[in-house]
Amino acid sequence: MENINEKDHSPLANLDVWEDDVLQRYPEEGPAKKKEEFRNYDSPERDSVREFYRLNHKYQTYDNVLAKKANFLKFDKKEMPWWQAMEYLNTLVDDSDPDISLDQLQHLLQTAEAIRADGHPDWFVLTGFIHDLGKVLCLFGEPQWNVVGDTFPVGCAFSDKIVYPEFFAANPDIHDERFNTKYGVYSHQCGLDKVNMSWGHDEYLYQITKDYLPEPALYMIRYHSFYSQHREHAYDHLLSAHDQEMFKWVDKFNPYDLYSKSPKPPVVSELKPYYEDLIAKYLPATVKL
Ligand SMILES: [Fe+2]
Ligand SMILES: [Fe+2]
Repeated sequence: MENINEKDHSPLANLDVWEDDVLQRYPEEGPAKKKEEFRNYDSPERDSVREFYRLNHKYQTYDNVLAKKANFLKFDKKEMPWWQAMEYLNTLVDDSDPDISLDQLQHLLQTAEAIRADGHPDWFVLTGFIHDLGKVLCLFGEPQWNVVGDTFPVGCAFSDKIVYPEFFAANPDIHDERFNTKYGVYSHQCGLDKVNMSWGHDEYLYQITKDYLPEPALYMIRYHSFYSQHREHAYDHLLSAHDQEMFKWVDKFNPYDLYSKSPKPPVVSELKPYYEDLIAKYLPATVKL
């Protein structure tokens, strides 16, 4: 049955389907609601999420991560002003019902506006606004499994706390003695900066912004999809004491990402001047992708 082109396959109707699935896994009111309202394993959407994770867990190998870093960390694809890059991200069109789904820019503005409404520092607001810009990887032809999905360390054993752990059975790294032990190529509490995470929009945007934003912002960007750590604490043996301290910020950020969706779309033209100012305060005039 194996399709020779399955690596290129992107089963989700759009990237939001993954985030909707995370929301169902970690609902705002706790697990009780999850049971009552969301246990619908037969939906086509759930099937596409399963297929998405099957591909993600099979192909996110140590070598995949090194290859993607070698390619994308050259930042030689495009260069443009930041606001224009946000609009470029927004060209990621999806085939879902436009009446119910927010576009990328709307999700980012809602996240940022919720952070702003709670009186957080302006760099935190800016982080909310840009946190998913790395999804432009899709526009560079990357399949969904190399752009979104829960992220996790590669180069060591995969935790069974990662969603759909059974799909790691098809990942060749589990047969590689360098990578298939608890610590793999790492050591006890070596710090996440030494750890290669599965490739996706989180690491990519971290690498783009690492010289410009305060450290808590960089942790939020880099680890916002690392649910097996920030929700399940599956990799405490790799985090340094400093990582643990910084993950308090990741925890602070996560609810804004997941639970700020309101049906009322933000008015982009009204908000643009404020965000243009924030961008100018912290970031260079253009972004190299
Ligand atoms: Fe994200
Ligand atoms: Fe997001």
